[in-house]
Amino acid sequence: MAVFETLWEYKEMYLQGAGVTLLLTLCSILFGVILGFGLVFMRLSEVKSLRWLATAYIEVFRGTPLLVQLLIIYFALPIQVDKFTAGVIAVGLNSAAYLAEIFRAGIQGVDKGQVEAARSLGMTQKQTMRFIVIPQALRSVLPAIGNEFIVIIKETSIVMVIGLADLMYNADLIRTKTYQPFPSLVGAAIVYFIMTFSMSKLIGRLERKLNTNDKN
Ligand code: ARG
Repeated sequence: MAVFETLWEYKEMYLQGAGVTLLLTLCSILFGVILGFGLVFMRLSEVKSLRWLATAYIEVFRGTPLLVQLLIIYFALPIQVDKFTAGVIAVGLNSAAYLAEIFRAGIQGVDKGQVEAARSLGMTQKQTMRFIVIPQALRSVLPAIGNEFIVIIKETSIVMVIGLADLMYNADLIRTKTYQPFPSLVGAAIVYFIMTFSMSKLIGRLERKLNTNDKN
């Protein structure tokens, strides 16, 4: 089949692109999760200005296209960053807004009685958060987090517009080299699917692992 022939013939370009996509995904996830955590604590804090700031951040980054955010970061900022860094910053900043909302849903979904029990056992507020609330929250939002990670893998493809040679960029290059749009692009779809499907399986496994200890 033409698709597999193209995949095989251009395997180096597909693999190299997939490597860039994977690295971009991992860095963006790391950045997004850390920032998302920071945002959710601001969002749930007692300090009104912090709450406001986090809400404004979430609304702006969720409410404008990732494409525009990436182009602003790469072309319109006074500091010059390389393509890969621009990609990580854009995807990470964008995803943090979504992740913060997912984390908030998880934290707010933990039964109040859990906090009251922990506090009455003498745990401090910090300990209650760290040992009681967050573990339960994370477990319940794991499917949503998995969803977001899959979205990140796919959304990194936006970096082709700034010329970063990720999987999508390379596949498009193969399209122009071969004059065969179908196999080159379907090839990219297959490689993306392998990545998202692996992520899906990974999250599923993690879910089962966390659920065997305690059923509720
Ligand atoms: N294409 C969407 C946008 O332009 C992607 C948003 C990313 N979504 C996400 N859950 N991280 O904004």
